[in-house]
This record gives sequence, C-alpha cells and structure tokens, in this order.
Amino acid sequence: MITETDVSVSWGVALDGPELYAAARLLDEGERRRAAALRDDQAQRRFVSAHAMLRILVGQRLDLDPHLLAFAPRGAYGKPELVHHAFRLHVNIASAGDRVVCGVTESGPIGVDVESHSVIADANRFGELDRILLTPAERRVLGELEDRVGALTRWWVRKEAVLKASGEGLTIEPTTLQMSAPDEAPQLLGWQGRPVPALWMSDLDVGDGYEAAVVVVT
Ligand SMILES: CC(C)(COP(=O)(O)OP(=O)(O)OC[C@H]1O[C@@H](n2cnc3c(N)ncnc32)[C@H](O)[C@@H]1OP(=O)(O)O)[C@@H](O)C(=O)NCCC(=O)NCCS
Repeated sequence: MITETDVSVSWGVALDGPELYAAARLLDEGERRRAAALRDDQAQRRFVSAHAMLRILVGQRLDLDPHLLAFAPRGAYGKPELVHHAFRLHVNIASAGDRVVCGVTESGPIGVDVESHSVIADANRFGELDRILLTPAERRVLGELEDRVGALTRWWVRKEAVLKASGEGLTIEPTTLQMSAPDEAPQLLGWQGRPVPALWMSDLDVGDGYEAAVVVVT
C-alpha cells in the first residue's frame, strides 16, 4: 500500500531576485529557452522555480546532481518524464498565481495540481464553470455548500491532478470524473466509460487562497 512517505511533494512561492537567478542555473538549455520565451514575468518566475524545485527534489531522491537530470515529454499527450535513468521515478509539476508544486514517487504515475481561488472566481463569473467541471450529482452537492469558489477550486485541482496522473490532461472532460465532495477526503468514485483506476490521493495545504492536490496511480 502506498503511503505519504512514498511520495515526496514540495511547494513554494515563485522565486525572485538572486534566488531566481540561482534557480535558473539549475535548468538545462531547453528549459532556459522555454523560460525565456515566456513573456509574462510571473509565468517566467513560476517556470524557473518549478523546474528548479523538481530538479532538487529528484536529485535528493536519487542522490544525483540536479544539473545531470534530463526530462522529456512522453506518450500521446506529452507528459514530461525523467529520462536516461535506470531507476523509474515518476514526476509532475504544477504552478498557478505565485505558487509552484512538484511531486515525485516510485509508486506509479503522479499528477499534481494547484489553482488559486481568484482564477476560479474569475472563470466562474458567468456561472458556467460548474457545468464545465462538475457532474450533475456534484452540482447538486455544490448547491448545498456555502463557499462555492473554494469548493469549485478544490474539485478543479483534484480532477486535474487525476488527469495529469493519467497523462491525458484536459483532453479528457472533467465532467467524466465523479469525485467525492470537496469537504470529504478526496476520492474518485466513478469515471464515465472506464473502470475507476486504483489511486492514492491527497489534498495539499499550500496557503490561503489556493487549493492543491496530488494523485498517484497505484
Ligand atoms: C497537463 C495540463 C493539464 C497542464 O495544464 P496547466 O493548468 O496549464 O498547467 P499546470 O501548471 O497544471 O501543469 C503544467 C505542467 O504539467 C506537465 N505536463 C505537461 N503535459 C502533461 C500531461 N499530458 N500530463 C501530465 N502533466 C503534464 C508539465 O511539466 C507542465 O509544466 P511545464 O510546461 O513547465 O513543463 C495541460 O497542458 C494538458 O491538458 N495537456 C495535455 C494535452 C495537450 O495539450 N497536449 C499537447 C501536447 S501533445
């Protein structure tokens, strides 16, 4: 059985100044090019911080220099994985607002996600997000909850973490996933058109105004 100790998760606030400069030095050529192509300063800070954090976490786990690691997109949907290493370590990163999260584990494909309440509140201005995100049964639960934005954000990150663990990402409609209520322990109850995979799931506390989740396919 998978436990918290099998999964290493790091999160933090996107770096700036000398720390950002130091983090950028951990990245490889391709990552630096991708960072430079990002126009938005905050997106650049998130990108560099998340990729440096992942390199440090994987380096610690494998006792390797973070510089020596290589990651490449794999599979039909381009989920990045660690390459050139005999040891099978699954990795994933996410960022939103000024938060970055990364997770690594040997136990199975991993997905992490983070989102801010403010982005979800904006996206839900016209009241459509619940239709894009939730099943009819989940929408009934939402109707009984006081903190709609908090609930939608938590549903969002839990579902996206499942879809990132599977590697399919948002090519799959989130409404095909039936999840437990946001004030209950995270659990995938049903998946339209396929059996429910065995998953380990946990919410992550990454500070006020954000929700985050980690999922491992076991
Ligand atoms: C994965 C996905 C949900 C990320 O959405 P997002 O909210 O914009 O970004 P997040 O912060 O949550 O995660 C971004 C990270 O997820 C990882 N990622 C990329 N593709 C992924 C996939 N298929 N599955 C899981 N993780 C993926 C990357 O490490 C990425 O970070 P990077 O771009 O800095 O390397 C979205 O990009 C997606 O649905 N991708 C799959 C389908 C697709 O568009 N494929 C195109 C290439 S074939």
